[in-house]
Amino acid sequence: MNEQQRKRIIDKHRDSLTRYGYHPNALYWSGREIQEIRFKVLADIGIQDGDSVLDLGCGFGDFKSWAIEQGVRLNYTGVDLSPDILTQAKKRHADGIFLSGDLFDMDFAEQSFDWVILSGALNEQLNDDSAYAKSVIDRMYALCRKGVAFNMLDARFLKAHDLHSQIPQDILLYCQQLCPNCELYDDYLKNDFSIYMRRV
Ligand SMILES: C[S@@+](CC[C@H](N)C(=O)[O-])C[C@H]1O[C@@H](n2cnc3c(N)ncnc32)[C@H](O)[C@@H]1O
Repeated sequence: MNEQQRKRIIDKHRDSLTRYGYHPNALYWSGREIQEIRFKVLADIGIQDGDSVLDLGCGFGDFKSWAIEQGVRLNYTGVDLSPDILTQAKKRHADGIFLSGDLFDMDFAEQSFDWVILSGALNEQLNDDSAYAKSVIDRMYALCRKGVAFNMLDARFLKAHDLHSQIPQDILLYCQQLCPNCELYDDYLKNDFSIYMRRV
């Protein structure tokens, strides 16, 4: 991701936050329900009470709140490019760790977290033939002890000039080169798919 793309993502979230405040629309989700459908798919990889989770592109830290509603308290670290969104996240979660930047700004040691999750943070169009997304997948897998769960937009149903989408099978094949134990789910929302990469 170049500096211009980074600035564009930061600026668009500053604008959306000014417009919508604390609301899924500020994260470019159409509503709470579809945000939480994605959370459930990711959590179903097997995230349990007391696990440590790195949430990449964490937004307001809503995954952490949603997990608490399900009776699951996480040792939670959120990373997000938008400092404005993160200011809100920190106000809402006194007990989480929130770091501003992208994954490559962080110097986490390998296998630092039980789980690494990502919902929606690979949807920005970078016009790089998914090179950045693939480098993020590599790094997420290196950072997990148990596994990675992430989603992307499904290019079979959604192609927009400003959104990054991919063919699920192509990303699955990429993930399988890194991890022998991968699963694909594409039956929960029309435009979306999720991949699990299990280390154990
Ligand atoms: C669609 S929102 C989803 C937020 C959160 N995961 C949720 O579902 O509530 C995507 C978030 O990822 C952040 N983001 C986008 N690209 C990113 C990147 N390369 N690294 C870190 N954060 C990123 C945005 O600032 C935004 O907060």
